[in-house]
Amino acid sequence: MKLSVYHTPELTPSEFLPDTAVVIDVLRATTTIATALDVGAEAVAAYRSIDNLMQDSQDWPETLRLRAGERGGSKVEGCDLGNSPLEFSPEQMKNKRLFISTTNGTRAIESVTKASTVLTSAFINRKATVDYLLEKDNHQSVWLVGSGWEGGYSLEDTALAGALAKLLLENTKVPITIENDEVIAAVALYSQWEDRLLDLFYQASHGKRLLGLGCQKDLEYCSSLDIIDTLPIQKEKGVFVKLDV
Ligand code: MLT
Repeated sequence: MKLSVYHTPELTPSEFLPDTAVVIDVLRATTTIATALDVGAEAVAAYRSIDNLMQDSQDWPETLRLRAGERGGSKVEGCDLGNSPLEFSPEQMKNKRLFISTTNGTRAIESVTKASTVLTSAFINRKATVDYLLEKDNHQSVWLVGSGWEGGYSLEDTALAGALAKLLLENTKVPITIENDEVIAAVALYSQWEDRLLDLFYQASHGKRLLGLGCQKDLEYCSSLDIIDTLPIQKEKGVFVKLDV
């Protein structure tokens, strides 16, 4: 396995793709996607554009769809939900398709959607992500891609990349080649904060933004490590389902 970390989609190589891309948007899109599938969503369809989301979801039966839209941390007018993972319950989500568009996370997904395998990961399903990467030997090249914020670096996304890399390196039975220095830096960042992830979120610019929007409970939930086994995997362009294990 050749392992690389990219802090934002903009920093990924433009001339080639990996066998497997793991998209990270800890606060909050990839936490939300894993949670929606964990509580019973049929699938999660990720859109960079709200307009395309609204247009495509029109063709989906109204009783079998929910629309989640977020920009700048707040809910988009006309959507059923924002992007708080705590808004997603089994009662309202079961068997429905979630159409979602967020400021950065769904944009990051689009940037790597043509890779052979695309996963999304968060702290809540970190171990499930690593277990899958280690059990299959067809992940010759793996990118851990942070979403960042509007092209800028985000502490929490790179910290999760470090958490994934650290667990991979500690548990692998096959050689892992570290392809860029960002892997080492991400592991160092995570190692510094692994016992106090919520405190890290309080230092992060987007964590502060969400606190300003009253999303303390979201930060607490998004900092919970390995609380679900659900792993979102792309089955068609931009559409994620719960991996059958
Ligand atoms: C993003 O896409 O940047 C985040 O998911 C925004 C949010 O906190 O909902």
